[in-house]
Parts: sequence; structure tokens; C-alpha cells
Amino acid sequence: MFVYREAIVAIKVVAISGSHRKNSNTELALQIMSKSLTKIGVETEIVILADKKIEHCRACDNCKKIGKCPIDDDLVEIMEKMIAAQGIILACPVYSFNITPLMQELITRGNRYFHILTPPALKGNLKGTSFTYKNIPSSTLKGKVGMAITIARRAGGGMALANLFNFMLVNDMYIVGSCYENTIFGEGRGEIIKDMEGMNILNRSTENFGLLLTRLYG
Ligand SMILES: Cc1cc2nc3c(=O)[nH]c(=O)nc-3n(C[C@H](O)[C@H](O)[C@H](O)COP(=O)(O)O)c2cc1C
Repeated sequence: MFVYREAIVAIKVVAISGSHRKNSNTELALQIMSKSLTKIGVETEIVILADKKIEHCRACDNCKKIGKCPIDDDLVEIMEKMIAAQGIILACPVYSFNITPLMQELITRGNRYFHILTPPALKGNLKGTSFTYKNIPSSTLKGKVGMAITIARRAGGGMALANLFNFMLVNDMYIVGSCYENTIFGEGRGEIIKDMEGMNILNRSTENFGLLLTRLYG
């Protein structure tokens, strides 16, 4: 439990799957993590990007110029959930040696959303001042605990992982590691369960994530 604006609320985690398929390995990994986190009193909401309507960034730069994004799709709700949570897990299969297009969309639009469109100090106060990274105070994700995992058949897990962690690092978040690279191997649905080393790595990172979350917010 942690105290926020005088109300006591449970520690919340948003766990996002970037897989393009249903009943995916990524979702399974998130369910395993969620089970462990429940045992220490942390509430996890799993969000499946494949279930959502998500548009591409239009590169109109309205966010920079007038502090407004013309896109009003499901991603906005997901990003608001991330702001309301204390912990964020980004889990993604590897497609062509990197994260999936769906996860890339979250990261691309998320960077603008958390830095430009929602930071408390600038919210509604961008009139006449064009955004630059020099005048931004921080990200709305500041101080949240982050963990990233990737799922691969064989290659590119580390590259995808670096992408996810970098997003967290440039958004002022605290990230946790594991005993080895957070990539779990599997191709067909459910196959990750057979990757014993991967399961061990997953359990360790979940443990570290839970520990930091409860130390900071418990
Ligand atoms: C379009 C596509 C591209 C893929 N590219 C890679 C790749 O570059 N490296 C790799 O190891 N696996 C690759 N895979 C395999 C997936 O990462 C693997 O099947 C994973 O378990 C899928 O996770 P999911 O069930 O959560 O969707 C690719 C799969 C698809 C559909």
C-alpha cells in the first residue's frame, strides 16, 4: 500500500503485451508474472495491444506546436493507465530482430504523450511556446518502476529489450534487471514454458520488480 494525495490505494501495475496474436507466449509470460505479483499484494492489469484500435503517429507535430494530438484512439486510454500505475511491464515478441509494430507505436506516441502532452508542469500551458526537450521538466512516468521482457524463437531479443528499456530510461523511470538477459525462447503458443532458464530469468526479474515496487510504494 502507498499513500497518494491522502488516499491509500493498492500498488498497481500495467503489463502490456505487444504481440500481434491472441493467446500468445507474451500474454502467458505476463500471466505468470501477474500471479507472483498478486502474492505480494500488487494488482496487475494485463493489456493486449492486439485487442485495441491503435493508429500510427501522423508526424503532424501538433503535440509540439499546440500541445494537442489529433488522434483519439484506444492508445490514449492505455497511456492514461500507465500514468495512473506505479509499475509498468512492457513485454514483446521479437519480430525481425526488434519489437513489434504495435509496441513501436506505443513507444513512438508514448514518448510525445508522456513528455509533451501530459507532464503536470506544462499541461495546458504550452500556448505560444513551442516544445523542445530543453524546456520540458520531466516525463509523467517519472519515478515509476519498469520491467521489460522479450520473447523470441531465436534472434534479436537483446536488441528489442534495449529498445524497451531505453524508452523507460528516457521517461525518468527506475528499471530492474534479472540474473541474465530477459529474453524467453519459444515459437509456438505456450512453448516458453519449456525454456527452463527463461522461466528462471522471468521469475527473478519479477521478484526484483516486486521488491523495488514495494520498497518505493509499499
Ligand atoms: C512476423 C514475425 C517475425 C518474427 N521475427 C523473429 C525474429 O526476428 N527473431 C526471432 O527469434 N523470432 C521471430 N519471430 C518468432 C516470434 O518471436 C515467436 O514465435 C514468439 O514466440 C511469438 O510470441 P507471441 O506468441 O507472444 O506472439 C517472428 C514471428 C513473426 C510472426
